[in-house]
Amino acid sequence: MMIKPLLLSLLCLTTLAAHAADPDDMVKYRKNVMSANGGLMGASNALIQNKVEFKGQLTGYARALEALNKDLPALFPKGGNAADSDAQPDVWNKRAEFEHRAKDTQTKAAAFAKAAAGNDSKLAEKFKELSDSCKSCHKDFRK
Ligand code: HEC
Repeated sequence: MMIKPLLLSLLCLTTLAAHAADPDDMVKYRKNVMSANGGLMGASNALIQNKVEFKGQLTGYARALEALNKDLPALFPKGGNAADSDAQPDVWNKRAEFEHRAKDTQTKAAAFAKAAAGNDSKLAEKFKELSDSCKSCHKDFRK
């Protein structure tokens, strides 16, 4: 069958194309994703602290946070940095550690989403764990 190698090379080309995003576009994109992260964390915090009464919206925010943090390293591809980025060079130089932090946030975001969906008594605790996980990566990998 000739079709398989053809499909495979098409797949490779698509992957290459995806990685070849303009560095400026990449930085802009990940800053938007990170800003969304920040907005959702701030809004969730206000709900958890009962500062406003839109509690019904928490599940959706938590689910969005889980989705946003599924694969953070993909937002930091090799060569995907530009002048206006606040990413430290260690994002690329200490890649294993960076990916480890991202994985931790992914796990914590999933746990928070689960707690929010089940209206778990550990909700505030799970939120704090997620927030600490964000901060831990910023401390070492953001300027
Ligand atoms: C694995 C590391 C890592 C994790 C985890 C992480 N961030 Fe970030 N974050 C970064 C880096 C690096 C930058 C700088 C990106 C740039 O400027 O290119 C950043 C930037 C930001 C910014 C600034 C965006 C801007 O417009 O400049 C916000 C806000 C933010 N993160 C919020 C969060 C929140 C909230 C979480 C957790 C839900 C989170 N981040 C998780 C590494 C991480």
